[in-house]
Amino acid sequence: MSRFCRITGTGSYLPPRRLTNADLAAELAVKGIETSDEWIVERTGIRARHFADEGVGSSDLAAQAGLRALEAAGITAADVDLIIVATSTPDMVFPSTATMVQHKIGAAGCPAFDVQAVCTGFIYGLSVAHAMLQAGSARRALVIGAEVFSRILDFKDRTTCVLFGDGAGAVVLELADAPGILATDLHADGRHRDILCVPGHVSGGSVLGDPVLKMDGQAVFKLAVGVLEETARTSLAKAGLNEGDIDWLIPHQANIRIMQSTARKLKLPLEKVVVTVDQHGNTSAASIPLALDLAVRDGRIVRGQTLMLEGVGGGFTWGSVLLRY
Ligand code: ACO
Repeated sequence: MSRFCRITGTGSYLPPRRLTNADLAAELAVKGIETSDEWIVERTGIRARHFADEGVGSSDLAAQAGLRALEAAGITAADVDLIIVATSTPDMVFPSTATMVQHKIGAAGCPAFDVQAVCTGFIYGLSVAHAMLQAGSARRALVIGAEVFSRILDFKDRTTCVLFGDGAGAVVLELADAPGILATDLHADGRHRDILCVPGHVSGGSVLGDPVLKMDGQAVFKLAVGVLEETARTSLAKAGLNEGDIDWLIPHQANIRIMQSTARKLKLPLEKVVVTVDQHGNTSAASIPLALDLAVRDGRIVRGQTLMLEGVGGGFTWGSVLLRY
């Protein structure tokens, strides 16, 4: 028997500390690092980002976003029987951020685990939740993307530290009588692991390697635009739809130029693309559910519309979820 799954609630949370490009440029200037609002806006489209205060972890942001998604779905934490958190900035090596979120939202007993696919993490998490619901392993999943990327940035490297922000976004995915999720498509290629990575690890009681983000921006850009078009087309083909059926494209929010280029390749006007990168920066696994929640709450996305969610990130990983909202 095929089972359908649909998103019944969305939620998000941004830490209150907001830094405009000018604020960040002023902080960096104190360290002798030069950048400007003009450079950042022109190359990336980013105008501001949010940074979590010291002591606030991904699980704190995730729990807030999760509770808002539960409220929107009209259910409580006790109704959830699966929790998946996508993050590259977990609170600890272990236990998982998902188990911390489970406790913080007041749930217990259901399976809870993290997925690690960097900026594609939410797409991976949503696809895994969908597969588990279809397999009969759960009825109601809470899927969250949450990051405190500010903790892994090198604030001496102006080519990367201006790009990222912190935040969390969440959805409740439930079994339903009608779709719902129409198609999913996931990929990874570890040959490209070095172009975007945080090459550090914990060993023998010390942090070894360099635990801050390293990126070859131009290599990432080239790979990203190719695979974002490819995965969108694959999900459309699996569902028997075409680009014209997409009401909203909700891509990972890395850089406005990657998003413009993807929209152009898919022959979608920019008016059909949900853009938050200007206000949030790149929040990695949180960026897609944050953008989704924003557009649901401001009334742009309405029930019955067809949404293309797609991401690309370190690994390299990429993938998409096509759904009827
Ligand atoms: N402020 C001012 N100048 C800067 C800054 C900055 N923040 N950063 C770099 N520059 C300077 C460089 O030093 C260089 O100066 P030079 O010509 O005197 O040597 C000049 O700007 C150009 O630098 P490039 O690195 O060549 O700039 P580029 O045009 O490639 O833009 C960027 C860099 C924005 C990172 C671009 O490569 C890009 O968009 N890449 C995509 C990567 C991305 O978005 N990653 C996000 C994470 S990946 C993901 O989420 C999938």
